[in-house]
Amino acid sequence: MSLSFRRLNEEGGVAVAPSVLSADFSCLETEVKAVERAGADFLHLDVMDGHFVPNITFGPMIVEAIARLTRLPLISHLMIDDPGKYIKEFVDAGSSIVSFHWEACDSRHERIIDKLHSLKCGAGIAINPDTPLSTVEHLLGSVDLLLVMTVFPGFGGQSFIPEVVEKIEKAARLKKDRGFSYLIEVDGGIKPVNAAAVRKAGAQILVAGSAVFGSDDYSGVITSIRG
Ligand code: DX5
Ligand code: ZN
Repeated sequence: MSLSFRRLNEEGGVAVAPSVLSADFSCLETEVKAVERAGADFLHLDVMDGHFVPNITFGPMIVEAIARLTRLPLISHLMIDDPGKYIKEFVDAGSSIVSFHWEACDSRHERIIDKLHSLKCGAGIAINPDTPLSTVEHLLGSVDLLLVMTVFPGFGGQSFIPEVVEKIEKAARLKKDRGFSYLIEVDGGIKPVNAAAVRKAGAQILVAGSAVFGSDDYSGVITSIRG
């Protein structure tokens, strides 16, 4: 795992990860470089397969192309069925962390986490807004990242679901009580107006797609989300 991830746990603070889903793909290089210049800490890459979610985005080929455009660590967010089958491609493409959904596979979560670690990649487990934290509690000692969805996955630009804040608080409490080291990432509808609430709840990596790429001041939005 990249140093910058470890530093978040050791030194505290909050990181912002723009989701390129809302970028202008006709000038991806300009967009990626613009958020890097604007102070982004990581990039969040939303991979959708049209099965696990009703939308299709991109695969490892684009992840690999983005990796060549930036020095920012890449967090791939797989919203795909049968993620175990594809994780090696996303690691080889240059992801620092690959996160997959609890809801996307029935029983092979541990095996996927082990495989990511054996490939020297960070492992993240993602949970939908209606999946309780207790469902993944047995995995939290072995993952590097817990991705708490604050919208139902599938599309950028949806509204933040405030009821999830309680789950973020629980995840932060559990992490402290049990001495776990997973980073808490939140994703969906994050904007300057609700960022303070998730930061206060214990979120460490805030994903923002439309809030950043839909604005004409990337740096201003990133700074205000970071708080
Ligand atoms: C939703 C994706 C999110 C999304 C974030 O399925 O996982 O990463 O792109 O975009 P905003 O910030 O616009 O909700
Ligand atoms: Zn995402």
